Amino acid sequence: MKGEGWRVDLSFTRFVMKKHVVIGVTGGVACYKALDLIRGLRRTGLSTEVVMTKEAEEFIRPILFQAVSGNKVMRGDLFNLPEEWDVAHVSLADRADIVIIMPATANMIGRIASGICDDMLTCTVCATSAPVLFVPAMNSGMYKNKIVQENIAKLKKAGYHFTGPVKGKLACGAKGIGHVQDAEVIIQEVRRLIA
Ligand SMILES: Cc1cc2nc3c(=O)[nH]c(=O)nc-3n(C[C@H](O)[C@H](O)[C@H](O)COP(=O)(O)O)c2cc1C
Repeated sequence: MKGEGWRVDLSFTRFVMKKHVVIGVTGGVACYKALDLIRGLRRTGLSTEVVMTKEAEEFIRPILFQAVSGNKVMRGDLFNLPEEWDVAHVSLADRADIVIIMPATANMIGRIASGICDDMLTCTVCATSAPVLFVPAMNSGMYKNKIVQENIAKLKKAGYHFTGPVKGKLACGAKGIGHVQDAEVIIQEVRRLIA
């Protein structure tokens, strides 16, 4: 029926308009791809907020994520004095309808799998009751490492979600498994998890 597609899309847009996505950006080469993901999520009608690790800030400055996400960027340090009193990682964890870690470094996967809570992102992930989606991206050797694989298996068993990595050209120039998942596939997974 003519116009039926519009009705379906509009109801989904109304549904997602109330949904808030927290994107944890870590220190991997693929962190620039989080910018495309955020733009895609916002086009779908979702609101976005970024939390960066201090290593991610070595790759990209927070101001760019602030401009693209439309919200203030939360930074790694837990002990920054907020302008108004707020336990930032707890309120961030509560605001999230979903947390995406994109890219998820081997280091971040290991820290969360070990229950380490030593910065804004690890504390937020630990405190949230929202679904958490990891988007790993790393060199093939790192991805195939037995301990990294055990950490991923442990997180999956605990109910965390993963998409990718896929095979492709890696930052080191080699081809293989470890390339970050496409933004469109991640967005489909987000839609599934928040629906
Ligand atoms: C140039 C460069 C590129 C890196 N790329 C990756 C990567 O793609 N994936 C990864 O797991 N680690 C990568 N690392 C290592 C991480 O930056 C390092 O483990 C860091 O401690 C991660 O911190 P975070 O997980 O708290 O953000 C890279 C390091 C450098 C210097």
